Amino acid sequence: MRTPTPSVYIRGMGVYMPERRLTNADLERLVETSDEWIRTRTGMVERRIAAPEDSTSDLGTRAAEKAIVDAGISKEDIDLVIVATVTADQTFPSTACKIQAKLGLRTDIPAFDMIAACSGFVYMMQVANHMLRAGDYKNVLIITAEKLSSIVNWEDRSTCVLFGDGAAAFVLTKCNEPYVGILGNILGADGSQGDLLTLPAGGSMNPASYETVRNKEHCLTMAGNQVFKIAVRTMSECCVRLLEKCNVTADQIKWVIPHQANMRIVDAVARQIKVPLEKFCINIEKTGNTSACSIPICMEETYRAGKIQPGDLVLLTAFGGGFTWGATLIRWK
Ligand code: UT7
Repeated sequence: MRTPTPSVYIRGMGVYMPERRLTNADLERLVETSDEWIRTRTGMVERRIAAPEDSTSDLGTRAAEKAIVDAGISKEDIDLVIVATVTADQTFPSTACKIQAKLGLRTDIPAFDMIAACSGFVYMMQVANHMLRAGDYKNVLIITAEKLSSIVNWEDRSTCVLFGDGAAAFVLTKCNEPYVGILGNILGADGSQGDLLTLPAGGSMNPASYETVRNKEHCLTMAGNQVFKIAVRTMSECCVRLLEKCNVTADQIKWVIPHQANMRIVDAVARQIKVPLEKFCINIEKTGNTSACSIPICMEETYRAGKIQPGDLVLLTAFGGGFTWGATLIRWK
């Protein structure tokens, strides 16, 4: 398979993880749960929690600074900023605009947020890929940043044990080498099931009131069991379709980097797409579910460990609120 030039590849990566660790033992003191339940039902052991004074844009800015240095470019070279988050600092101004200002980037460039929940990274890869190929942009800064601890109901054991904070930023760049970088991408959505994973209040449908605060409707809710099954099916289907589309067989894949929502979901997807679990990159035990950040945090860690080499085929897949889902195939440059 040949991708038309220009290709779009990952030129630099940066991750920021907050210092504070919240362990399963800590959660045992908060709600009626157990380390054993959390480990066996999710694979999680600890997650990071951002400092109270840090907002999502602070986390994203720190990751972005590292990514720009890693890319070997200067801030002036960035000509588009996109942020995927469900925990924006505020509804507006966008977190992308805030990060642009905090980084001191040029002002003749666009900056915008997009919401695709946990699929935010694969959605953003596709948006950036096409904007780079079609437009006048050369270096796009894509950032995922989440302070999920700010929207978790700490009295709800079915969700509060799952989520963590973090941020990752990538610089995507155009080049004229064929068949490198992003080879293909498949995205999907089904808004009819959106209520199964949602933040009920605070928008125009259900504005903030004393009642919404009292009822904890500014915290996320999830029908975990139903979400689980749909996540397995949609992630598996889009991986299989993407491999077919790119004319790549499952055994040619070097690494699969899945959204880290539940180890049992990863297990099931591995079986469905017939890729051995050993090829799946997993860091869920250290991070919990960091929504859109989970794939790029895990990818950066895998790369820094020397496991991803030029030429390797890396498959990413995610599922999240909306519902949204997707898969991206990359040949490492
Ligand atoms: O990132 C976006 C997408 N998110 C996902 O894909 C998450 C998908 N869902 C899941 O990962 C799983 O459904 C959960 C981890 C959220 C829940 O696991 P489950 O095996 O589906 O559990 P369940 O909801 O069916 O609950 C089983 C039992 C219930 O007790 P009973 O009714 O059987 O007595 C729950 O009340 O486990 C209980 N339970 C807990 N027990 C101890 C639920 N949460 C906890 C907890 N500790 N934290």
